[in-house]
Amino acid sequence: MAQRETWATRTGFILAAVGSAVGLGNIWRFPFVTGEGGGAAFLLVYLLFVALVGFPAILAEFVVGRHTDRNPVGALRAYGGDAWKYVGGIFIATGFIILSYYSVIGGWFIRYAIEGLRGDYASHIAAYEGDPEIMFGALSTGLDAFILHTVFMAITVGIVALGIRRGIELAVKVMVPAIILLLVGLAIWAFTLPEATGGYEYYLSPDFSVIAANWTELLPAAAGQAFFTLSLGMGVMITYASYLGEDRNLAKDGTAIIGFDTGIAFLTGLVVFPIMWAGDLTEPGSGGPGEIFVAMTQAFADIDGGQFLGLIFFATVAIAAISSAISLLEVVTSYAIDEIGVDRWKAAVGMGGLIYLLGVPVTFDLIFLDLLDYFADAILLVFGALVLTILVGWIAPQVAVDELEKGIGDLGTLGVVWIWALRIPIVIVLVVSLYLGIVEYVDFLTGMEEGQLGWWIEENL
Ligand code: TRP
Repeated sequence: MAQRETWATRTGFILAAVGSAVGLGNIWRFPFVTGEGGGAAFLLVYLLFVALVGFPAILAEFVVGRHTDRNPVGALRAYGGDAWKYVGGIFIATGFIILSYYSVIGGWFIRYAIEGLRGDYASHIAAYEGDPEIMFGALSTGLDAFILHTVFMAITVGIVALGIRRGIELAVKVMVPAIILLLVGLAIWAFTLPEATGGYEYYLSPDFSVIAANWTELLPAAAGQAFFTLSLGMGVMITYASYLGEDRNLAKDGTAIIGFDTGIAFLTGLVVFPIMWAGDLTEPGSGGPGEIFVAMTQAFADIDGGQFLGLIFFATVAIAAISSAISLLEVVTSYAIDEIGVDRWKAAVGMGGLIYLLGVPVTFDLIFLDLLDYFADAILLVFGALVLTILVGWIAPQVAVDELEKGIGDLGTLGVVWIWALRIPIVIVLVVSLYLGIVEYVDFLTGMEEGQLGWWIEENL
């Protein structure tokens, strides 16, 4: 077998992991999920989750990846024993599902960036009865969406096919700094809007009674969002750590990655909520997956230089989405390379093609987006994180601590704290989140309210 690829530079790994973490989860998903969860209350639960569960969990993925040097299926088999390969199989399936709809949404961002090239956003909205929601409805499904889904997937496949150093590493080195600069610029601009205060208040001052009253919905939503945005629960960090040739300080790297990702999600809130308030959109969350498109297009239609800013904003998000999509495809591709034995090109094109097909229904009707997104997010990722926690915490903790100590030195009691955090509190939180997530999903599948699957079937079949 050919020698396994490795990252070329020290920063290559961090940038690739940051590039994976920062994506539609931060910019498309975070604002509307925060809105559905009631603003600041959700933000608080989410932040706690990231710090208390996300950090120990990212370390768990890192040590499993670096220790085994394998794709998730091979890694779990090598780490836990033969039966664990089936869990690895679930990871691959999760990547498959997430990327299928992720590509459609990434395509929307490319589409909205193209609108900025073609003319100003005000006249685009005018072409759709003056209503950005109608515009979103027209662009998010049908031929437009289908074509851009194809484009997005083709770019992703191309980068992954080129490999670790020439493809992924080179791409993220340009993309990640660009994303940060643009978001900071937009946040500063949003700060100058006269009506911004309402947006900040909604976003930043938590109402604890909201948390107490809604925790059964907040917890699974925050858990799903935390894992989604950190790219945890399906082996991305296992795979990326498997390309580490040297023993780096994984705790430091994990902190940097989580810091960047959380910072960028937070920053996106500072862009989106003031803009929504300035545009008189004071019911965040009600717009669902279209919310950011509706809010931002309206904003870019209203302001001077909006065409240019809008073009930059949508293009930036598309770039961030691509640097995440490559990580999803890389997991599936590395599996095909290692376990099926095909070469990188065939693996990337073949798997990418299948994933592409799974995404096509989403371009017809957004109910398929909910169907896939809720399932992957609140169930598969939380499940994935749970089993990995059990593997590292209970099945092979000493190997994990030894592996983490390479590149750090003796951890002493910190290693024990880490393992015991995984063993009991995190397992409990994940079990509860998973249970609540399943209940919510079943509700979605059987529910007859508008937007739920039962309702959709009644309407369409
Ligand atoms: N984290 C990315 C985002 O926020 C999406 C993503 C990439 C992902 N790889 C993942 C989500 C693996 C879950 C698991 O957009």
